[in-house]
Amino acid sequence: MRKCIKCGEKAQIYLPQHRLSLCKTHYIEWFENRVEKSIKEFQMFSKKEKILVAVSGGKDSLSLWQALVKLGYDADGFYIDLGIGDYSKKSFNISIAFSEKLDRTLHTVSLEDEVMSIPQIKNYDNRPTCSICGTLKRYYMNKVAKHLGYRVVATGHNLDDESAVLFSNTLNWSVDYLKRQYPVLPEENSFIRKVKPLCKISEKESAMYAVLCGIEYIEEECPFSEGATSIDYKTFLSRLEEKSPGIKLRFYSEFLRKMYPILHIGEEKPHLNRCSICGEPTTGEICSVCNLKNKLKLKAGG
Ligand code: AMP
Ligand code: FES
Ligand code: ZN
Ligand code: ZN
Repeated sequence: MRKCIKCGEKAQIYLPQHRLSLCKTHYIEWFENRVEKSIKEFQMFSKKEKILVAVSGGKDSLSLWQALVKLGYDADGFYIDLGIGDYSKKSFNISIAFSEKLDRTLHTVSLEDEVMSIPQIKNYDNRPTCSICGTLKRYYMNKVAKHLGYRVVATGHNLDDESAVLFSNTLNWSVDYLKRQYPVLPEENSFIRKVKPLCKISEKESAMYAVLCGIEYIEEECPFSEGATSIDYKTFLSRLEEKSPGIKLRFYSEFLRKMYPILHIGEEKPHLNRCSICGEPTTGEICSVCNLKNKLKLKAGG
């Protein structure tokens, strides 16, 4: 029988990559300390700042929100209703119920009201749905957080997400994406600061935290994520992880420590303009969301 290294009681959790056995209480404590450690390591935010947690109703974002509130951070939630049938209805209800349980505000935006729902957009735009959706999510996170006076937006991206993206960007040598792959993107050019406090926490670890804390979360994946290549990369990395525990964390952390600084030597920052329609930052004259809105208006004939 494995024993908790903190209290000697029967361990419920074993974390092979950290060679740690922990009971329920000490696992919850370990998780929250680990979140706090990343916040401090990357100087994400302080307890004096107002934080907006982007909440999808999934295990990562809800675990993050709870951990931040328990650690004493001033964190409210932000939910974007994508209008994807039952999937969105269920995740919306879960997010609302969770905000009541935490006794924190949940701000919401509906894509149907702002632009069009994701399934409607899919009928007019044949680019990959997830990439249009990603652009819209980032746009509204930035715009709404600034409008409501938050200093920083936190997302629930975990180590599995980050290492899969890193793997994909490395396979393709997408240097411009690699340059931006950091758990803190500072506030600049009308972009709000964006942080990923779960960047060193695996998907399994955040699921265990959610289960042990009794957090109700949506288990289904978005119906449009089926067949995404990132799922193949995640499966591949998880196989490697089984053989060599800790390899995912090493791949990601060592990129941040050794490679990321090299990518920024002698760099000049790109100049950004304000979108002539909505005022959000853009490299061109009109931002990608206003461009999309114009295109949808034309196609929908209104
Ligand atoms: P995903 O891209 O679905 O893996 O989500 C990554 C992170 O983006 C989540 O952990 C959330 O922080 C945020 N997010 C995803 N979907 C939503 C949504 N509908 N509303 C607000 N935030 C979201
Ligand atoms: Fe956006 Fe799936 S298309 S979450
Ligand atoms: Zn213990
Ligand atoms: Zn715009």
